Amino acid sequence: MLKSLIPATVVLLTACSLSFSAEFPDFKSLPSRPELPDPLVMVDGTRVTTAADWNARRRPELQALFQHYMYGYLPPKPGKWIVEEVLFTDPTFLDGKATLSESRLAFFNPDLKHRLHVLLVIPNKRSGPAPVFVGMNFCGNHALANHPKIHIPESWVYKSCAGSENERATEKGRGTQSDAWNLDLVIDRGYALANFYSGDIDPDTADFSDGIEPAFYKQGQTSPGPSDAGAISAWAWGYHRVIDFLVEKHSSAIDVKRIAAVGHSRNGKTTLLAAAMDERIALAIPHQAGCGGTAPSRVAIDRKDVETIRRINTVFPHWFCDNFVLFNETPDKLPFDQHCLLALCAPRPVLYSNAVEDQWANPDGQFEMLKAAAPVYALLGTSGLDAKERPASRVLLDSKLGYFIRPGKHSMDREDWGIFLDYADKHFGKPK
Ligand code: GCU
Repeated sequence: MLKSLIPATVVLLTACSLSFSAEFPDFKSLPSRPELPDPLVMVDGTRVTTAADWNARRRPELQALFQHYMYGYLPPKPGKWIVEEVLFTDPTFLDGKATLSESRLAFFNPDLKHRLHVLLVIPNKRSGPAPVFVGMNFCGNHALANHPKIHIPESWVYKSCAGSENERATEKGRGTQSDAWNLDLVIDRGYALANFYSGDIDPDTADFSDGIEPAFYKQGQTSPGPSDAGAISAWAWGYHRVIDFLVEKHSSAIDVKRIAAVGHSRNGKTTLLAAAMDERIALAIPHQAGCGGTAPSRVAIDRKDVETIRRINTVFPHWFCDNFVLFNETPDKLPFDQHCLLALCAPRPVLYSNAVEDQWANPDGQFEMLKAAAPVYALLGTSGLDAKERPASRVLLDSKLGYFIRPGKHSMDREDWGIFLDYADKHFGKPK
């Protein structure tokens, strides 16, 4: 009876992931492959030549490979979730141009003590349901707008967040990231935006004791297994739960066919994984995501100018699963590279946006990933990358495999948002 309530696709996916991971070779028997693995060749060497085979065989295989060797398996969708409380609804936000609300979601089976606070801003003037950006923030929802009612997280926050005292958020942080999210611009351009704080899922500390992960452990398990979810997988789960909320509770105001996911840096790595794993995300913008996201893992391991997987696994040991550490000295043994994660988004539009001074995120390597994913877009009958070379600074390459680079540093700012909105207008159509 219970099983019949679970959608068939979920049962199928779970079954696929289990059987795949059991079959994947252990690290020692993986061959060295210094060249980028062909996204269209299966682990057993079979070449995929049709869209049907890509969708039925290679796509699920790659999804399982990335979870098995790199990110860890995303936790499943809990058996039940509810909107525990709508904290407030303010239809006068931005001089009456938008309605701002915040909802607190609770999850059961497994029962999570964590609560997910979703901040939602929807334009009041619109001719139909609005396209939406879903994003994850670094410092708490209250940092997005100086509004007295937005919830301030009780959990750990980064020391670097404005208003943070003893790694806890305070009233002083209200509105301090408004120039990163630019709600006024998003609303003026006709889009809605939903946002959540990564710490509601798993604070970005080096262990999982304060995150949702342990709630998904097997009975008797006390620490993560080699391919259990790292923080990036758990955060991607968060994107998916926000999308459940939009689809199930807000589909009259939000166009659930036009959901864009966005995130900066570590949150951008999460954005790309979330999009690769969930086709409800119709467009993705992993901004300055770099190593472990948009940039290749195959870089010379002694490079100091760009981040390597050895460096990322050392400094951020909780972002990926334990299996990934095995590849620190030999990234050439990975049976995929990051172009394959991008290819999992095909045929959907994905924009890689960057900054000239942010070489750490390897903007050149990212363009190579776009090129290497293009054959999958072609197989699916759509054009991918409309350029052979990187576009000049400040010129948006707005093909389905999109690219942008601007002068300046590692940050998300108003100029970036202008570009995100232009890119979304191109692929979603301008909101009326
Ligand atoms: C560090 C890390 C990057 C990450 C960035 C961020 O620089 O090395 O991988 O993207 O933090 O999240 O801001």
